[in-house]
Amino acid sequence: MLPAAACGKIILFGEHSAVYGHPALAVGIPEGMKVTGLAPCDGPIRIRVSPWDLRASEASDDLLGEVLRRLSRLVPGERLGMEVDLESRIPPGAGLGSSAALAVALVRCLARVRGKELPDEQVRLLAHKLEKVFHGRPSGLDDTVATYGGLCLFRRDGFRDSTHRSITGQAVRIPWSVPTLVVGDTKVQRSTAHMVAGVRRRWEDDTRRVEALFEEVDSCLADGLKALQREDPQGLGGAMSRNQDVLSRLGLSCPEIDEMIALAGREGASGAKLTGAGGGGGVVAVAPGREEKLKDAWRKAGFDAWAVSFNGSGRRDPT
Ligand code: MEV
Repeated sequence: MLPAAACGKIILFGEHSAVYGHPALAVGIPEGMKVTGLAPCDGPIRIRVSPWDLRASEASDDLLGEVLRRLSRLVPGERLGMEVDLESRIPPGAGLGSSAALAVALVRCLARVRGKELPDEQVRLLAHKLEKVFHGRPSGLDDTVATYGGLCLFRRDGFRDSTHRSITGQAVRIPWSVPTLVVGDTKVQRSTAHMVAGVRRRWEDDTRRVEALFEEVDSCLADGLKALQREDPQGLGGAMSRNQDVLSRLGLSCPEIDEMIALAGREGASGAKLTGAGGGGGVVAVAPGREEKLKDAWRKAGFDAWAVSFNGSGRRDPT
């Protein structure tokens, strides 16, 4: 039997502010990264990821080679390598958690090959160390959702008095259902590490202003949670649009994101925002009853787009 898949993720609220200890809310895209083949070997780790057309090995002279060398050092057990085939349902670099999903899938595969069944929390911790190679100083949000899936409320320093069930010291499970979301890719490539470093510079230059903006994000998140609880997609969309306004003021939007958001408004969406690091990458919208129309409008304008539906607390059924 092949190891479990890893989830992609859609951040509904709190990208960037999560890095500074503010809360964030994200939902897993089920089976974002699936394992389709796995064999142990005595040589170096080799991976293939379809449909990204990506091949790498521990000998690769790039970031992925460095990730694989670190993976080999981190995973306990017999010193074996592996040949692994992965199939991704999410595009790379679109703010949908592709690197965290890859990291989680690789940890689960190598642990299996080396005869270890690691508990999810250890998988997450090791994946977080690989995420550091990709992104420098990740908050842990992406690797948490990639490991556990579902709807997660995350805070770097944890929640002391939450009434919700803890998943880890940093995340609780939100039991409310998530409406169908329309996710789009601007197809503008940008580096998460670069975007995170830009916000860091702004935060260092004017901490008070940037912290005030993060507090606005906290209030959008609180409104979004209330809307989810009362199953109010209009309220959820409105809170997401307000979060987008703050992200824009932080300099994280770009003309393509703005165009997608304007199109979402014209197609009757109740709200839309960038998702992930911004500067390009992904956009997420709530458009109750108008999901197909919005998806078509985005595609017609040259963007990629999908509707993602969830059962219960963020499980299953991308369409
Ligand atoms: C990237 O998916 C999310 C960011 O908040 C970075 C992080 O949380 O590590 C931009």
